[in-house]
Amino acid sequence: MAPSAKVLALLSLLAVCLIAPAAALPAPAKRQNIAALAQAQVTAFRPYTHYASTGYCHPAATLAWNCGANCQANPSFIPVASGGDGDETQFWFVGYDPTLGEVVVSHQGTDTSEILPLLEDADIVQERLDSKLFPGLSSSIEAHSGFAGSQKRSASAVLSAVNTALSKYGVSKVTTTGHSLGAAIALLDAVYLHLQIPHATIKFVGYGLPRVGNQEFANYVDAQPISVTHINNKEDLVPILPGRFLGFHHTSGEVHITDSSAWMACPGQDNTSDLCIVGDVPDIFEGDESDHDGPYDGIEMGC
Ligand SMILES: *[C@@H]1O[C@H](CO)[C@@H](O)[C@H](O)[C@H]1NC(C)=O
Repeated sequence: MAPSAKVLALLSLLAVCLIAPAAALPAPAKRQNIAALAQAQVTAFRPYTHYASTGYCHPAATLAWNCGANCQANPSFIPVASGGDGDETQFWFVGYDPTLGEVVVSHQGTDTSEILPLLEDADIVQERLDSKLFPGLSSSIEAHSGFAGSQKRSASAVLSAVNTALSKYGVSKVTTTGHSLGAAIALLDAVYLHLQIPHATIKFVGYGLPRVGNQEFANYVDAQPISVTHINNKEDLVPILPGRFLGFHHTSGEVHITDSSAWMACPGQDNTSDLCIVGDVPDIFEGDESDHDGPYDGIEMGC
């Protein structure tokens, strides 16, 4: 997909800022310390990859669990609720996976051409998370205001559906997932659901996740008993945006898919090894928009 002239202009503007601070960063970590996941570990992500992909399907299709190959890939799934309009509010669905024994929440992402302006806007605003949804957080914790706004629009409907599903199926595990913007919403959902349903065990599995919040946000998420995995593909540039120089930081839990399709577990936040996205895609010129949608273990994102 060819980037529009507008995106190109933003990219070049941003590149000037990106290249300068790169020199001050520590040298890439040693290769041998970063381990590849075993095939069985990669395979274990497949249900979530399909759920993230299914997030792009219309709410009527996910509520009926009739969306073709993506729905058929998780055949035992029992939908509980769905919503969103795919415009102001991203599509979402909530249901129960009896095979995993988990309630699953998924959010729709966006086209690469739509998310890049959100990430490269020179006026990106960070804001505190709404204290009604996220009670008790330190005032230093901030997130991308666009992502926070998107999460807020579906928050109460998602919470109510998750509570319904947890009690109906008598389980306590919840996994949130999504791709791109959907992954950003799902990460905020994981934090939100952990605060709202403290007895639940929360897991997040995201794909092509952009940076969602500031250093305090990343540290806060890392300190919670929330299992976080964010998987990024090859030279996708979305996960390196917004730039660290703008005060955005990834949480720990990165898995980077290399050019040889190995899934590398990258310890720490924004690991600078060239086996991880920050080292592999040091600036946007090394990035490739077409890697954003996948494939993730053979699965391309989209309904
Ligand atoms: C990157 O991973 C290596 C290998 O495990 C580790 O030694 C290093 O501290 C990590 N870097 C960061 C920035 O977390």
